[in-house]
Amino acid sequence: MPDNPLRLKSIHHVTFVVGNAKQAAYYYRKAFGFSQFAYAGLETGSRDLACHAMQQGKARFVLATPYRSTSPEADHLHRHGDGVVDIAFHVEDADAAFGEAVRRGAQPAVEPRTLSDEHGSVRHAAIRTYGDTVHSFYSFTDYTGPFLPGYVPRPIAGEDVGILRVDHMVGNVELGQMEHWATWYSTVLGFARYISFDDKDISTEYSALMSIVMSDNSYAIKFPLNEPAAGKRKSQIDEYLDFYGGPGVQHVALLSADIEQTVTRLRANGVEFLSVPDSYYDMLPQRVGEIEEAIEMVRSLRILVDRDEEGYLLQLFSRPVEDRPTVFYEIIQRKGSRGFGKGNFRALFEAIEREQELRGNL
Ligand code: FE2
Repeated sequence: MPDNPLRLKSIHHVTFVVGNAKQAAYYYRKAFGFSQFAYAGLETGSRDLACHAMQQGKARFVLATPYRSTSPEADHLHRHGDGVVDIAFHVEDADAAFGEAVRRGAQPAVEPRTLSDEHGSVRHAAIRTYGDTVHSFYSFTDYTGPFLPGYVPRPIAGEDVGILRVDHMVGNVELGQMEHWATWYSTVLGFARYISFDDKDISTEYSALMSIVMSDNSYAIKFPLNEPAAGKRKSQIDEYLDFYGGPGVQHVALLSADIEQTVTRLRANGVEFLSVPDSYYDMLPQRVGEIEEAIEMVRSLRILVDRDEEGYLLQLFSRPVEDRPTVFYEIIQRKGSRGFGKGNFRALFEAIEREQELRGNL
C-alpha cells in the first residue's frame, strides 16, 4: 500500500478552458444537471479570465474562458480546443505538497503563492503533468468565501441528475509514454498501479490501446493512462492526440448511485451517448449473470454492464461534448466492482470506431 506523500485529500475541482464559458455553463447546467454556484470575471476584478464554477454532488468543474489572446489560457484554447487544463487537488498544505512533488521530480507550473480576497486567503501551487495539463494544490485554513478568492456567489440551480462525484479521469498520452507517466504518478504522487490492460484486452479488428490505472492509497483518486497500440488503422487514442494536439484528458467518469435515473434524465436533456448494437444485450445475461436491474431497462437505455470477482458495474459513454473528437464523459454506477469495464471494451471500441469512420478518421 503506497503512502500519500503529498497529503492529497481529494480532487478539489477540474478546470476546463473553453471557447465560451458562459454558454458552456448553460450546457453543463441544462444538459448535465450541474448548478452554478460561483463566478469570477470582469465584474469581480478578474481581468484575464471569466470563470464559472459548477457543482453537482461533490463534482466541481470550473469553466474558464480567456478574455484576450495574450493570456496563457488562450494558447491552451488555440492548441487544444475545449479541454481540461487543471485537475486540482485539495491538500493539507500546498507549500509542502509542491515542495515534495518537485523534490520527487515534478516540473513546477506555479510557485506557491497566496490568493486572497475579503473572505480570507488560500495557498496555491501547481505542477505540470502530461501535455499542457497541470495539477494544482490548494490548501485552506480560514477561507470563508463561496469557492476560491476572487469568486463571488452566483447561484443558478440546475436540475440534479444524480451525479455524486468524479469516479476517475483518464489521460491519453503518446505511443511509448504510458510507462513514463505511470511511473511519474507513482514517483511524484505516490500512486500505485491498480490495473493494467494491454492490447490483448483492448483490441478490435482495427485498433488497440493499452492502459494502466494509477490510484491513490484510498482508491478515491483514480487516473487511468492510455496510449495507442499498433492496429490496422488509426486508433481512437491517435484520433484524440491528433485533434487535441497532444496528450490530455480523454474522459471524465462521473459516479451515479442510480444510473437508470441519471441516464434517463441526461438523454431527455439531449446528452448524446455511444450506441452499442442489440447483439450486445443478447449476450449480456450469460456474460454477467444475475443483476438487480431489469435487462429491458439496461437495453433500452443502452447501458453497458460488466462483472468481475468483486461485483459488477454499469456504465455508458457520451459522444465527445465538443466539435473536436476529444473529451467525453462516462456515467458509472458501481455495484461492488472497482474495475473499469474491461468486458465492455470490445463492444465499446467497435462503437467508437463506427463513429470514427463517419468522421473520416479511422
Ligand atoms: Fe472510464
